Amino acid sequence: MFENASWIIHPNNNLYEPVCFIKTFKADKVKRALLNVTTLGCYYPMLNGERIGDFILAPGFTSRKRVQYQSYDITKMLKADNTLEITVGDGWYNGKINFVVANDTPKALLCQIEIIYTDNTKKTIVTGDNWLVRKDKLRFAELYDGEFYDSNFEDAPVNAKILSHDKKIVVKQQGVYVKEQEIIKPIAIFKAPNGDTIIDFGQNLTGYFEFTANAKRGDRVEFTVCEELDKYGNFYNENYRDAKARFEYICHDGLNTYKPRLAFWGFRYMRVDSFPCEITADNISAIVVHSDIKRTGYLSSSSRLLNKLFSNIIWGQKGNFLDIPTDCPQRNERQGWTGDASVFCKTASYNYDVEAFFEKWLTDLKLDQGKKGNIPNIIPQTVCWDWSTTETTGALWGDSATIIPYQMYKTYGSTRILKSLYPTMKRYLGYIATHTKKRYLWYGCDQFGDWLGLDAPSGSYRGSSNEDFIASVFYYNSAKIVADVSRILGKDGTKYDLLAQKILDKIRNTFKDYKTQTECTLALYFDIAEDKASVAKALNDMIRANGNRLTTGFVGTPFLLHALSQNGYTETAYDLLLQEKFPSWLYSVRQGATTIWEHWDGKNEQGDFWSKSMNSFNHYAYGSVADWVYEEACGIKPKIAGFEEVIIAPKPTDKLDHLSAIIHTRNGKILSKWYHENGKIRYEIETPVSATIIIDGREYIVPSGKYLF
Ligand code: BGC
Repeated sequence: MFENASWIIHPNNNLYEPVCFIKTFKADKVKRALLNVTTLGCYYPMLNGERIGDFILAPGFTSRKRVQYQSYDITKMLKADNTLEITVGDGWYNGKINFVVANDTPKALLCQIEIIYTDNTKKTIVTGDNWLVRKDKLRFAELYDGEFYDSNFEDAPVNAKILSHDKKIVVKQQGVYVKEQEIIKPIAIFKAPNGDTIIDFGQNLTGYFEFTANAKRGDRVEFTVCEELDKYGNFYNENYRDAKARFEYICHDGLNTYKPRLAFWGFRYMRVDSFPCEITADNISAIVVHSDIKRTGYLSSSSRLLNKLFSNIIWGQKGNFLDIPTDCPQRNERQGWTGDASVFCKTASYNYDVEAFFEKWLTDLKLDQGKKGNIPNIIPQTVCWDWSTTETTGALWGDSATIIPYQMYKTYGSTRILKSLYPTMKRYLGYIATHTKKRYLWYGCDQFGDWLGLDAPSGSYRGSSNEDFIASVFYYNSAKIVADVSRILGKDGTKYDLLAQKILDKIRNTFKDYKTQTECTLALYFDIAEDKASVAKALNDMIRANGNRLTTGFVGTPFLLHALSQNGYTETAYDLLLQEKFPSWLYSVRQGATTIWEHWDGKNEQGDFWSKSMNSFNHYAYGSVADWVYEEACGIKPKIAGFEEVIIAPKPTDKLDHLSAIIHTRNGKILSKWYHENGKIRYEIETPVSATIIIDGREYIVPSGKYLF
């Protein structure tokens, strides 16, 4: 593909201006026509004034070592005389997310149109300096800052210039397309106390908007977005930091209908800075955009607040699965932070079918692995956060290389990702071994610790749990995963079994007591503690003494409820899940959250914000609590990878009237529901494969079917 095509650019390419490449061609008696295209920057393709395909922000976000191309069947769109217009904006490749400096990598196009005529003759049209290019009506498009579109702008086309740029980086589309998914209407349009006009969409979402306005030439439409209002009910966007998150549009005479082309925003509210006529629910909507992943998991309970939490977890996933798993969709970050993905991947894989989504991202992880084997803390690597050369990796963040492929195997049963990532995993273990300051531990290195743990010393983000202990536990976990993956792939895993054993012995000899909730949690969940009963009791005591409240951050939280319920403290796990006082999951729900917050204390009872520097209201990491509800509260776990056989061991409580989970696995639908009836607990179970059902300690081995206990 693209053998005869050249990368082309605007001859006077200005870094910040989108450009539009134009090709006119005749097409008569066409049987089939295919457009193959890729760009440096994101593109918006049109043929004869109509949008081609529905992939938003193509060609997607990948490692800079590759760029995906897309193929569109344009047969039905063709006329006798055709005009192809492809607008290219900054996107991920050239935008602020990459901090690319002046004209280093201009917005470029590589394209090949293949036409087969009805008499079976063929013609190929490829990019070259006979293509035209002009500045676009889309005057500015950048992911953090937003869009500016001038519908009256005209520019005379000039011949494109050839860019000498490697074509070997071009690969076939691997990821899932990003598409428009839902339309959301405002729930309110009101005047804030300070006089601003604000639109409330009722949901913190990721995507853009569409408006219609009758206007005069030169009238302006201007919006700025935010996630939360301040305690007075005024617009608040300081937590977006340097991301301007703006939209500006200059109208032409008559009816103007527009939706952004090459940007997205994370927002619930929109401030109307300018609009040519009255703005009502009839002329503005929000459009939710994310990777086209299929929903597979559903949780439901008798608690209204808990159901809202389940919904917030789903919205956290929708908002952050936009081509890559991002930390957040709104501020000047939106990066593929690996630790966040590590803790959320299990929940993500039950909620949605994310195997293909992660396969693409893990390919980028493999490509961006540092020379010494370290895993950069964000994937894809961006120019501004280049960790591939710094040789650092944070525990849990780097362990994305083992944890995520392994989880994809467990949820979906295929070994394809494991095979592809196996060398990466081994090199990663090698990296830790050569960089630690103490053999068989991960010791003395730069770490994120229990990121955002509430027991953080003042002024720190890192919790107070021992960072060397945390890192060593994940080193141990990764060694065990690599040993198991070796066996799964039919290779000898003995070396990694031995390594894991040595790490375990060393951890046990070095870290003798566990002082924080996170330390106890890890010691239990990862089988470090020798006397689990007393560690579980200590953990339980800490939580009880803290008024049934947690202090854990990114590292402890995902495993906390598992550690409790697997060690005899299921009721304490429920107390944490159902806790409404700060800090807790339901505290944010009580505060009106519609997604998962980055910080337990993102907003306090008085409505004051934690800080403006790091305060996202759409960060999925703590949404990982859903996997406890699927696996422990409702008890659904794969017995054989891919749910070829299943274990269903629900753990009911008197604190809820009912709870249910459904997972549509690759082998069919699993349902586990329990409810109270006449002083007893009823269990409704449905399994598509043979199952081990455990109720009140009694085991039932059953074939596929529906069961009532
Ligand atoms: C991100 C986090 C990330 C962390 C690591 C933050 O800025 O938003 O989610 O994991 O940095 O340091």
